[in-house]
Amino acid sequence: MDYSKRDVLERGSATIVNCLPEIGRETAVAEIFEGLTAYPKRISSKYFYDKKGSGLFERITVLKEYYLSRTEKTILQDVPLCAITDCADVDIVELGSGDHSKITLLLDKIPEECLPGIRYFPVDISRPALEASIVELSSLFTGLEIHGIVADYIHQMHLVTGKRKKLYCFLGSTIGNLQRDEAMAFVSGISATMLPGDGFLIGFDRIKDVSVLEKAYNDAEGLTARFNRNILNVVNRLIETDFDCEDFEHRAFYNQEDRRIEMHLIASKDMRVNTPLVQDDIVIQKGEMIHTENSHKFDEGDIALFAEHAGLSIAMTFSDEKEWFSLVHLRKT
Ligand code: AVJ
Repeated sequence: MDYSKRDVLERGSATIVNCLPEIGRETAVAEIFEGLTAYPKRISSKYFYDKKGSGLFERITVLKEYYLSRTEKTILQDVPLCAITDCADVDIVELGSGDHSKITLLLDKIPEECLPGIRYFPVDISRPALEASIVELSSLFTGLEIHGIVADYIHQMHLVTGKRKKLYCFLGSTIGNLQRDEAMAFVSGISATMLPGDGFLIGFDRIKDVSVLEKAYNDAEGLTARFNRNILNVVNRLIETDFDCEDFEHRAFYNQEDRRIEMHLIASKDMRVNTPLVQDDIVIQKGEMIHTENSHKFDEGDIALFAEHAGLSIAMTFSDEKEWFSLVHLRKT
């Protein structure tokens, strides 16, 4: 990788490379404006994760209603990393790494003398989240080489190269945020870069009782509502609007047909919002919804389809007792 033209930060044995300028602010502005003037309106869920949004999400992960993170972590605790990859010589690439709690559970399994053989590449769109997790990880695992990459992993996976054995990790059921066809294309795209023996560990939230699903996105404390509304603060900063979060209500429900939780913001009054960056105003009617997130849920058939479509084989599936969540280890053969 050519670091020279990019924004590099070094902290001990860790580095962070900022690859986001490649996408550019203009693209973000255009994407957001287009979504807010479309019908129905939408904002991509990748914009949730500014500093405040990442903090709110971390608080969501420990809510009792939000079973996803807790369940995945109990599964991760039992995944024998050394059995699924060559721990003495591997690049672990975590897509959308967020905080360091998930990878820590995997790295905890590794004998200390193996750590120098591992390079860890967390890839995330949020620089603050990356920085914080790198600081933590380098003190928890001395000897581990860490290369953080600030990037939109959906479009920038060409940034991770090299011939070393790779284990890609896409945890937290973040894959559920993509449309099903996008998710298929994404897994296939990664697969196309994989060499025989490389692995891909993906977390899938499973289809389950609707009331369990809906409660996870409608917590009693209202943290998910705050997380949802905060996307408007991110939008305000990016496209210089003055949306007031309080003018919108949080709604999350299970869409049976598409087998996904949808999150929306509902306007509680008519609005005309101006951005100095684009000539036209954004017009919103009372009761109008802005779609902010899809969180797809998966069954065994879906998982098999991913593997087949991407030309990967399912080496192992790790699930909790209730089968609320599955970690699937796919292999390139
Ligand atoms: C981080 C994408 C897995 O979809 O459940 C949490 C984000 N949204 N509460 C999810 C989220 C609302 C979360 N993922």
